[in-house]
Amino acid sequence: MSRFRLARDEQGYYLDDIFNRQKPLRANFIEPALLTRLGRAGKKSELVARAVRSESGLRVLDCTAGLARDSLILAYLGCQVTLCERSPVMQCLLADALERAQDHEMLGPAVSRMTLVPSDAISMLDSGIEHDVVYLDPMFPEKEGSAAVRGSMQYLQRFLGVDEDTDRLLETALCMHCDRVVLKRPAKGGTLHSELPEPIHVFKNRNSRFEVYSPIRKTGQS
Ligand SMILES: C[S@@+](CC[C@H](N)C(=O)[O-])C[C@H]1O[C@@H](n2cnc3c(N)ncnc32)[C@H](O)[C@@H]1O
Repeated sequence: MSRFRLARDEQGYYLDDIFNRQKPLRANFIEPALLTRLGRAGKKSELVARAVRSESGLRVLDCTAGLARDSLILAYLGCQVTLCERSPVMQCLLADALERAQDHEMLGPAVSRMTLVPSDAISMLDSGIEHDVVYLDPMFPEKEGSAAVRGSMQYLQRFLGVDEDTDRLLETALCMHCDRVVLKRPAKGGTLHSELPEPIHVFKNRNSRFEVYSPIRKTGQS
């Protein structure tokens, strides 16, 4: 029997870990803390927005949608975001969160700029889809001795484990026609193994590090 159970109540779908007393995992966007964060979100205050260079109409491909917190911030700031997610359970949580938020006064316009594509990002990138920015936030192994990740990310780590194909995802993204590729990593730890170019910019805070890469082929070049 699996320790994880996907279920639904009046607040929508959730993932329950029967071996853990942590509250169930939901993608729900209508959460006071998230609404407060969005209310304060700006192109300068949110590191993800600075790394992506968010602006109205910018086309962002979020290859690793997860709970879509980063995507929601970018969409709230005016970006058109395509969200790629390969885990069927995460797809279900996300689709539910998007549907529930579409009529919300504050979130509705942002959610209308978010499109969920239930797919593996590598095959989607291989299909030649064009965006201005490719954004990656894969699951990295936790570095030994570092403070344990908390809350929903802790849940995701237990449920999904580590994304072992991150090198390939980044390599594929760097071959896309786009203006920039942004990789989010934990501030400490989470090394990549492949021989990749150096990032052209790095934005960091206490928890995260956003590395900006220049793709091999820029938008408009053949
Ligand atoms: C760390 S979470 C992303 C968190 C997200 N940025 C947020 O703000 O909530 C990583 C997610 O990316 C997904 N993922 C990893 N590699 C992927 C791939 N190649 N294609 C699609 N989804 C992928 C995982 O299933 C997981 O849900």
